[in-house]
Parts: sequence; structure tokens; C-alpha cells
Amino acid sequence: MKVQIVEVGPRDGLQNEKEMVSTAAKIQLIDRLVSSGLKRVEASSFVNPKWIPQLADATEVLQGITWSSDVTFSALVPNIRGLERARASGLTEIALFMSASETHNLKNINKTIEDTFPILREVAREALTLGMRVRGYVSTAFGCPYEGAVPIDNSRRVTNELLDMGVFEVSLGDTIGVATPKQVREVIGEIVKDVTTERLAGHFHDTRGTGLANVSAALDVGLRTFDSSIGGLGGCPYAPGAAGNISTEDLVYMLNGMDYETGVDLERLLEAGAFIQQQLGRELSSKVLKAHLAATCVE
Ligand code: HMG
Ligand code: MG
Repeated sequence: MKVQIVEVGPRDGLQNEKEMVSTAAKIQLIDRLVSSGLKRVEASSFVNPKWIPQLADATEVLQGITWSSDVTFSALVPNIRGLERARASGLTEIALFMSASETHNLKNINKTIEDTFPILREVAREALTLGMRVRGYVSTAFGCPYEGAVPIDNSRRVTNELLDMGVFEVSLGDTIGVATPKQVREVIGEIVKDVTTERLAGHFHDTRGTGLANVSAALDVGLRTFDSSIGGLGGCPYAPGAAGNISTEDLVYMLNGMDYETGVDLERLLEAGAFIQQQLGRELSSKVLKAHLAATCVE
């Protein structure tokens, strides 16, 4: 059985890094991720660069990477200005994003949920007219850093609004890594009343160590697409305390052992992890990367 991995390291992973990562290193990271067999890579963000300075070089990154016809690159887009920049950089897929909780939406994109819908609807309409594919994210679908518990109905409503705008897939985000497997089953169990599992993805952060357990629960209820980040990099600058995404190395290792096919060569993926760890100059959280590097040290 196949599982699709959406690699979000170059975007979700790097957006929270305080020290600027060079454009050349970002390009090399993406090329290495692609050479490991990943077919979907979120390369950067076309948000307001004042909000996320680390990704201000999105255009240059997309200019520098090696494009391949069987790999889809994508980037976050919050508004029409972002769409124009994404289009000019050659992207054929974009990702819209908003939150299921009011306060996180306000802090992250400076608008209420109600005011966000028409903006994203217009972006989706334009992008679809241009022949682009549009993905959607629902952040704080399992909990909000400011409001705590988020009613399932909020996540369900935002998911349905995004689907109605024409997104092909909604990624359900546990932005601050509070979800547990039981909750994952409950939330996804409600959402699939309106949408098939093929149009949903799981986006888990591992702040409290439940990331892979949540993937396993989501697999049980039928999800087959997961976002993850090389090395376990990541976080959200507008979600205090949010740790990294689940690590792609750990995800691939687990899926391999569960007989799911990902098409990813773990050895090459580990080389990409070692590369970005060296660039950042600190140990990353991926357990499989740590184990691999420790084993290669004693060999
Ligand atoms: P705003 O300041 O309210 O925007 O930001 P504005 O429309 O008032 O524009 C202000 C200025 O920004 C203008 O320039 C615009 O041209 C410029 P000025 O006239 O002052 O010189 N501007 C832009 N420039 C370039 N590209 C653009 C753009 N947009 C405006 N796209 C906005 C509103 C939504 C733009 C802002 O809040 C923003 O960029 N937020 C993004 C924050 C972000 O990226 N957060 C992290 C990603 S979300 C996440 O991590 C969660 C996720 O991983 C899932 C999960 O884990 O749950 C996806
Ligand atoms: Mg995220």
C-alpha cells in the first residue's frame, strides 16, 4: 500500500530558524530531498517577507533548484500578491492556509476567520483559472496555543470551506503538537463524514512526542498522505512553543517497517538530513538521523 509524503522541511522546517540559512543551502537541501525520491516538496513561502524573513528568498530558491517533471513543488500563498509571486517563479501548485481557531488566525495572518474566507476564495479562483493545483491547510485543527481546545466543528467548517473553494486536498495541522491518537481518530472521524480520506492529509508536529503515534492512528482511519520535515525541523513563529514537524526520516523508517511504500530511499534521505544538520550547526531532533549518525561514527 502506498503512502504519499509531502516534504515541508524547506518551508515549515526553515521558517522558524532564527539564523538566516543561505539561499544556496536551501537549494542544495531541496535537490537532495528530491534525489531521495520525494515527489512532493513545499519549497518556500510567498507570504509577506516582513512576517517570515527567513523565506524572503523564495523566488531565488525556486530559480535555483533542479526542476523535474515528476516532482511537484509548492509554496504557501496567503493572498493575491503571493499568488503573483508564486506564479512568476514557475510554480504550478500553491498551498492556502488558515486556522480553525480565531486567535491563531489573527496572529498568523492578521485577519479574522470570516475575513480570511473571501481572500482565500479569490486566490483559489485565480489559481485554478491559471491551471494551478491548490492545496489547503487547516492549522490548529487539534488545539490552539492561545485558546486551548478547538471544537471539532471549527476544523470541520474550515475544511469544508477550503474544499468548496476547490482545493484538491486539505492538510489537517496539529500546529502545536498537542494531539493524541484518540483525538486524531475523533477529529478525522468527524471530518470524513463530509469528505473522503483521499482528500485529507495529516500534518503533525512532535512537540509532545505523539507525532508518529498520531500518524499510526490516522493510517488506521484511512489517511494515506502525511506532511513531514527533514531532520524534524520546524515550528510556527506565531505558535509559541511549537516544536518541529514529525521527521521525514522517522516517518519513512516507520512506514517501511509497516510495509507501506513511500518511494523514498532512506539512505539518501539521511544524507539530506545530515547535510542540513551540518548547515545549521546543531543536532536535529530526528531519532532515525541521530541513530544513523551514531552508528556511522562507530563504524
Ligand atoms: P498584512 O501585514 O496584514 O498584509 O499581512 P497587508 O495586506 O496589509 O500588506 C502589508 C504589506 O505587506 C504591503 O506592503 C503588501 O504589499 C505586503 P506595503 O504596501 O506596506 O509596502 N505584502 C506582501 N509582500 C509580499 N508577498 C506577499 C505579501 N502580502 C502582503 N504575499 C499576511 C497579512 C497574510 C500577508 C501576513 O500576515 C503574512 O504573510 N502571514 C504569514 C505568516 C506565516 O507565514 N506563518 C507561518 C505559516 S503557517 C504555519 O506554519 C502552519 C502550517 O504549517 C500548518 C500547521 O502546522 O498547522 C501551514
Ligand atoms: Mg506546520
